[in-house]
Amino acid sequence: MTTLNKRLYIGSNLKMYKNVRQTMDFLTQLASLTENISRETIDLFIIPSYTSLYQASLKIDHRLIRLGAQNMYWEDQGPFTGEISPRMLEELGLEIVEIGHSERRQLFGETDQTVNRKVHSCLHHGMTALVCVGETLEEKEANLSAERLRIQVKGALHGVAEEQLDHIWIAYEPVWAIGEHGIPATADYAGLAHEVIRGVLCELFLEKGMDIPILYGGSVNRENALDLIRQPEINGLFIGRSAWEADNFDKIIREVLPVWQAKIG
Ligand code: PGA
Repeated sequence: MTTLNKRLYIGSNLKMYKNVRQTMDFLTQLASLTENISRETIDLFIIPSYTSLYQASLKIDHRLIRLGAQNMYWEDQGPFTGEISPRMLEELGLEIVEIGHSERRQLFGETDQTVNRKVHSCLHHGMTALVCVGETLEEKEANLSAERLRIQVKGALHGVAEEQLDHIWIAYEPVWAIGEHGIPATADYAGLAHEVIRGVLCELFLEKGMDIPILYGGSVNRENALDLIRQPEINGLFIGRSAWEADNFDKIIREVLPVWQAKIG
């Protein structure tokens, strides 16, 4: 099995770190550093905090950096204090919504069912759902990784129609690999997990499942990025800490690109 997708997807979730000024400085610097990289084959995206999104969407050239939100509620409007609706994100011209990051699942009670509702709402509003899946350390140690991934992918995409697949991206982010205390997955381990995910996508959508981008995330850095991207089913990288300095992120992108190009031929 080898992916049919010829684009490289590379982006970062800024989580709850940068304020508006820091986000704008970061985005401006990243846009200028990466300006001469052709966007023909690469999708570069950043997912800032809600408070930075308005200014970012006004000021940043969306052709250079695609912008996304870290979460959303599934209803268009209503008595849902503290939530953000898909219409509000649409109004900002956002293209991507990250759904079901492990921090949302672990700390904020996100389930496969709520992920599925958000995916449908996001698609209904014409935005791309970046669905995060990944097993916990306990599941990995009990040899349940493949089962967990299958359940999460099937749960998230339940009821999604073939013609909506252009707006689905998957991020494989093993919970034990994420963040400061995370241990990065080896390229081989990540490669196998991506094959499991590709297998489920093809079960659900036949050959159309080959086109859906699957990104790896979890302690990606300059050292491991190249081995990860060489894996046949890894279509991109979803990076946290190592991407938060524009300079370092630009270096990762430039180092990864030729390896990716050699892989897709
Ligand atoms: P990390 O974050 O690269 O800092 O481990 C990854 C993520 O949570 O998406």
